[in-house]
Amino acid sequence: MEKIILDCDPGHDDAIAILLAAANPAIDLLGITTVSGNHNVDKTTRNALAVCTAYGINVPVAKGARGPLIGEQILAVEIHGETGLDGPVLPPASFELDSRHAVDFIIDTVMTHEPKTVSLVPVGPYTNIALAIRKEPRIIERVKRVIVMGGAYTRGNITPAAEFNIYADPEAADVVFRADWDVTMIGLDLTQTQALATPDLQDRVRAIGGSISTFILDIWEFIATTHGGLLQIKYPAIHDACCVAALIDPTIITSEKADIRVELAGRWSRGMTVCNFEKMGGMRHYAGTAAEQVDFRHTVAMTLDHPKFCDMIVEAIEWLSRTKNLN
Ligand code: RIB
Ligand code: CA
Repeated sequence: MEKIILDCDPGHDDAIAILLAAANPAIDLLGITTVSGNHNVDKTTRNALAVCTAYGINVPVAKGARGPLIGEQILAVEIHGETGLDGPVLPPASFELDSRHAVDFIIDTVMTHEPKTVSLVPVGPYTNIALAIRKEPRIIERVKRVIVMGGAYTRGNITPAAEFNIYADPEAADVVFRADWDVTMIGLDLTQTQALATPDLQDRVRAIGGSISTFILDIWEFIATTHGGLLQIKYPAIHDACCVAALIDPTIITSEKADIRVELAGRWSRGMTVCNFEKMGGMRHYAGTAAEQVDFRHTVAMTLDHPKFCDMIVEAIEWLSRTKNLN
């Protein structure tokens, strides 16, 4: 089993990541940590508790950073609505928050488990992860894997150059990509073109019936209005769940090695993930900066096995509905 901490900003697609993490036998969800992003951290935390309650699960939820390391908080209310998770009925929490800050929950969990057994899965801005590294650098060598939703090697979604999770806290993303661990980046190039809630998937979910099926369909019905409208994405993009799916079955994605740098200073490109692919003419050093040797240690996801992805989502809803008597 893959032991994971899911760091998220629920958020419609975050809710599907929680679904897969909670309902697939390959994942041991040690906890959920929340961060400001799709909405403020008060609402993303309330939403995380509501999603767990709707799924009938009880895992530690720890509240995290209220804003980026530097600069003003950037939210995605125009995409996710006033609650941060508009659409489904959000039940009142059935359990209390963990008393620790998310950063302390991450450090405590990684440091109390055997080395190389806990993976971090940030699918919102990476503020909590960066703060955890700064507070306890030893987690870098102790973590098993870091697999992030964020970035893009083609174009962004909040600026032409930058994807939201990176743009909302570029300094935190820079800390995460510079740290001495190997990051797997699942970016927009894959998620908004391949990880889509197609009509066929929605029909399969509808056929399950029950409250979780309704909850997920209500999520997709709302997000289709903003993903389709504002972002011209053909069907709701299930960005964050791709990270959990890749931990459940690594063969669900194909990937390439790359050197990844986060642009911090560009007037028009701040928050861009500059991806220098090893096999696509990988530049061995950045022009004029021979000292800045590139290092193709990170991994960028390129393709997703959509049928397998859909099966995972359907099976997760079926399993939860059956075992939690939520029919
Ligand atoms: O750009 C997409 C990412 O930003 C997803 O994680 C979504 O939930 C938002 O956080
Ligand atoms: Ca997210």
